[in-house]
Amino acid sequence: MQIIASGATLGARIEGVDLATPLSEERLHEIEQALGRHGVISFPRQELTAKQLRDFAERFGSLEINVANQYHEPGLPEVMILSNLKENGKPIGLADAGQDWHTDMSYSRTIAFSNVLYGIRIPMRDGRSLGNTEFCNMHAAYDELPEALKRELEGMTITHDFNKFWEKMRQEKGSTRPPLTEEQRRRKPPVSHPVFLVHPITGRRVLYANPGYSMRINELPADRSDEVLAFLFEHQLQDRFRYRHNWTVGDVLMWDNMGTIHNAVADYRPDEPRLIKRCQVMADKYFPEAFAQ
Ligand code: OGA
Ligand code: MN
Repeated sequence: MQIIASGATLGARIEGVDLATPLSEERLHEIEQALGRHGVISFPRQELTAKQLRDFAERFGSLEINVANQYHEPGLPEVMILSNLKENGKPIGLADAGQDWHTDMSYSRTIAFSNVLYGIRIPMRDGRSLGNTEFCNMHAAYDELPEALKRELEGMTITHDFNKFWEKMRQEKGSTRPPLTEEQRRRKPPVSHPVFLVHPITGRRVLYANPGYSMRINELPADRSDEVLAFLFEHQLQDRFRYRHNWTVGDVLMWDNMGTIHNAVADYRPDEPRLIKRCQVMADKYFPEAFAQ
């Protein structure tokens, strides 16, 4: 197995490993370390069944099963389907997942460790891939915060709300998704997490805020919270923290949901097919104490 760093702020490619066969503990450990260090890792030229994808992802922690999500592999609810394809006029997957800056599941009491995506159909135009995935480096974003702000925010917490992203998609992105029902909102109540997390693999602090779900810094007055969040969102999206994964069919892409934030670039048309299978790995294996509540 070779780990080839991209040389940019994030990203590495891992060659010489077949994810269809079970990994040794040693390989698993090397991949975890690479994920912490590089934030986004890709394994090109994989050939996986949905079950093999599930079995690989599950080595890193328990998988989220979203029972409300109708778009999953038949018989494998942990394998979600992202796609703009339709069969008999019906969507086969979630067509607009992640199309703005966010980190997965910061709105959940148990946060996410990693998302594992397998690219099956990738839209192409003029020899280039579309529907790529962009990332920003939250280790670097923390490191480069003004020292006074690091001190001010240390020990503080942020409220994250699933509804923030949902409503933004409806109101600003023309999504046809209906508003969340009272029942759905009750099942996904806002939660709080520290502004800075100590990353379980690197042991370093990361900025755990994202424009998609972060609502309020709980310990600050509302106007100061608004001002600081606006600053953090602008700060964390700066070009020097950015990295883009350009997809190729057969890629397995894994990202670190604590050390990065991401955005699915919506630059392809409905008639340009995209099909990705996805497993959301929760942080229970790495953060058992903090998230066992
Ligand atoms: C996600 C997501 C990005 C993509 O599945 O959570 O953000 O490029 N996907 O599909
Ligand atoms: Mn996402």
